[in-house]
Amino acid sequence: MDTRPIGMFDSGVGGLTVFKEIKKYLPNENIVYLGDTKSFPYGSKSKESIINLTKQGIEFLLSKNVKAIIIACGTATSQALDTVKNLYNVPIIGIIEPTVKYIANNKNLHTIGIVATAGTIRSNAWANNLLKLRPNLEIINRPCPLLASMAEEGWIDNDIAKLAVKEYMKGLYDVDALILGCTHYPLFTKLFKENLKPNAEIINTGTVIANNLKLILNKQLFNESNKLGNYDIYLTDTECNFLSVAEKLLNSKDIKIQKCEQKFC
Ligand code: DGL
Repeated sequence: MDTRPIGMFDSGVGGLTVFKEIKKYLPNENIVYLGDTKSFPYGSKSKESIINLTKQGIEFLLSKNVKAIIIACGTATSQALDTVKNLYNVPIIGIIEPTVKYIANNKNLHTIGIVATAGTIRSNAWANNLLKLRPNLEIINRPCPLLASMAEEGWIDNDIAKLAVKEYMKGLYDVDALILGCTHYPLFTKLFKENLKPNAEIINTGTVIANNLKLILNKQLFNESNKLGNYDIYLTDTECNFLSVAEKLLNSKDIKIQKCEQKFC
């Protein structure tokens, strides 16, 4: 058994959608979460910048003695995971591989919509990985560049959010499953649902990872104590709406935020 925390990393509040699922399925685990709010948004940055920021995020989490790292960010997973995964001596998990395996094993899914940031869609990481395992899948990629910023603002169910999601979902009504390829997007689940055929599946990558973490990580890494885990949340810049969105998302008034002491550049 290993009581060290699991590290999690995103550009902002989006990774908390993964954090929420991990907390639900593995409540005993301690978690250190880093939101790189100073560098938000990642979705419009170059691959080179994303790799650089991801390395800095990982190094900050390693300084907190984490036993494994979840890159709870689609943009960083799609553009930096291949480069960083063998550079450090802890397991580093992204959001794409577990979700692709889940889809590959679900033979009822034939048409897949992928909504994600512009950078993630440009990388083609989702489509390439899906087609390796299921070459006959029909895939529709859709960049949604405004949504992560709207989520950071807490604009997740107002008229502007409704219009934006409706616009981005044009042509996606009939897909069998919609992958929320950016971790900010589960905040818009209700709106995505309104723009999909009734039996379509909405795939929250956080749920897939949390469900599979016991298979992905070595058994010795788990914390089997029966005490509830502690959570430390660090931000690279605290002048933002993170807290109010986090309180709504996690349904808690007891969230404490700390300023990350490491300089990000
Ligand atoms: N939550 C992120 C993702 O999954 C990043 C959004 C952004 O910073 O643009 O892609």
